[in-house]
Amino acid sequence: MAERVLACAPCHGAQGEGTRDPYFPRLAGKPAGYLANQVIAFRNGRRHYPPMNYLLEFLPPDYLKEMAEYFASLNPPLPPPATPAVGEDVLNLGKTLVTQGDAARNIPACVSCHGPSLTGMEPGIPGLLGLRPNYISAQLGAWRYGTRTALAPDCMQIVAGHLTEADVTAITAWLSSRPAPENRRSVPKGTYALPFACGSQPQ
Ligand code: HEC
Ligand code: HEC
Repeated sequence: MAERVLACAPCHGAQGEGTRDPYFPRLAGKPAGYLANQVIAFRNGRRHYPPMNYLLEFLPPDYLKEMAEYFASLNPPLPPPATPAVGEDVLNLGKTLVTQGDAARNIPACVSCHGPSLTGMEPGIPGLLGLRPNYISAQLGAWRYGTRTALAPDCMQIVAGHLTEADVTAITAWLSSRPAPENRRSVPKGTYALPFACGSQPQ
């Protein structure tokens, strides 16, 4: 498998740890089910990044699942947290939205699905720490504008649809400035109940 994924290394790193490019995401240690859903999403056009769409286009589903399991099993250290380029008020808004949401604006707390320590839940919910700012804001933007979709009900599209540009800036700054948790493994399936259903997280 290490040989098979050499094609991925220039962008995702030899251990799936990411590279210096601020946009190329880390893969290592994300839940295998989540990673499998993503490679399938690139293959069938739910997510768009031409070099990846092209690379995965002709690979059979079993092969994609094995690659997902391989990257899920790796555990290189997370990158150092980003230094936020925003003021205290913006960071506080980010923290409030992630940890409590904003009921008046129909924004659920991100921790209600991504977990109290933001490490995600098996099989389909990824952790949100160790992601870089450009990547986080691009993904939230992609859901808001409909260029990234997941299986229905696409709960991230619902969540992102309630966020403003200013919310995305605040959430991105706060999340990317968090230190890595001691234990960054995703919790087992069913550890807590989601506030509403997600197609990519069978209950
Ligand atoms: C040319 C650079 C490049 C190569 C080569 C590449 N990727 Fe990617 N990959 C990206 C970028 C950029 C994204 C984020 C795209 C986006 O959503 O805008 C991504 C996203 C992903 C994601 C989703 C990550 C997440 O957290 O949602 C997975 C999984 C993935 N790639 C797997 C692979 C695998 C497996 C290979 C090798 C077969 C590979 N990639 C090769 C650039 C690359
Ligand atoms: C109802 C559950 C739910 C809530 C609430 C939720 N998420 Fe998610 N999130 C998910 C699921 C499920 C996925 C995986 C979607 C997929 O398979 O593409 C996801 C994926 C993501 C990703 C993609 C990570 C990557 O590596 O590409 C980001 C970023 C994200 N969520 C941010 C947030 C933020 C920020 C909030 C709070 C404003 C939030 N989520 C609230 C369920 C949720």
